[in-house]
Amino acid sequence: MDIRLLRPSDIPLIQHANLENLPENYFLKYYLYHALSWPQLSFVAVDVSRPAKSPYDYPKIVGYVLAKMEEEPADGVPHGHITSLSVMRTHRRLGIAEKLMRQSQLAMVETYNAHYVSLHVRVSNKAAIHLYRDTLGFKTEKVEAKYYADGEDAYCMKLDLTALREQIAAQREKELEEDKAAAGSNGVNGAEAGTEGVDEGEAVGDVGRDPNADAKKEKMVKVKVGRALGVGELVERDESKHT
Ligand SMILES: CC(C)(COP(=O)(O)OP(=O)(O)OC[C@H]1O[C@@H](n2cnc3c(N)ncnc32)[C@H](O)[C@@H]1OP(=O)(O)O)[C@@H](O)C(=O)NCCC(=O)NCCS
Repeated sequence: MDIRLLRPSDIPLIQHANLENLPENYFLKYYLYHALSWPQLSFVAVDVSRPAKSPYDYPKIVGYVLAKMEEEPADGVPHGHITSLSVMRTHRRLGIAEKLMRQSQLAMVETYNAHYVSLHVRVSNKAAIHLYRDTLGFKTEKVEAKYYADGEDAYCMKLDLTALREQIAAQREKELEEDKAAAGSNGVNGAEAGTEGVDEGEAVGDVGRDPNADAKKEKMVKVKVGRALGVGELVERDESKHT
């Protein structure tokens, strides 16, 4: 199984999976809007056990998560939202939905600095509620009465991403330290080479500029470059005029 980013060419396949698995369906352009607006956030699970028969064979998509950033968050806090998630019946209870969700959450933090992620789920959807609440740690914020078209209520759920944000920040810090240490051991580090504070670049602007620099420069001579004839030569001749 391969978990990878959603590509625009996958959209008809995930629309098919959505129609198979959920009563909430969307126009193709809504999927495309997600893929083009937040290309880092939506993922697909591809069954790679069946290799493509030809270059035109389409991938076997067995699950997807369609996610976005809330465009105008009412609370002013940048956060992600899960628009849709489903896994084909043949591939359920293998941990695919959990992986798709975690991958999207990571991308929300890494790319958009999301503080939390929200979603809606039918109050009767036991499988999804288990996944969100027990496996991933979402909390129920409130119940939205008659949220769905058939009149069913929805749990409005949220997952705080603070722990993930801290984990990523610590990882970045560690990588930065490692980069510095590696640069130092290669002799690139100014402090180690005894060149700390030495500016090796050309002066920019007038600060620190030698006032006599212009006088010292060799006199410059302007030369013509390119074809002296210009584009006139390339204009088609008007054959209607007889000369
Ligand atoms: C909900 C759904 C996405 C779960 O996908 P999945 O790939 O089977 O889920 P996972 O294998 O990652 O399982 C995650 C957790 O949920 C549990 N789970 C999965 N299906 C379950 C079920 N039918 N009943 C109870 N728990 C279930 C798993 O045991 C696992 O729990 P654990 O971490 O304690 O072991 C899938 O059932 C589905 O596509 N349903 C139809 C579409 C849908 O309802 N989407 C959600 C809309 S909000």
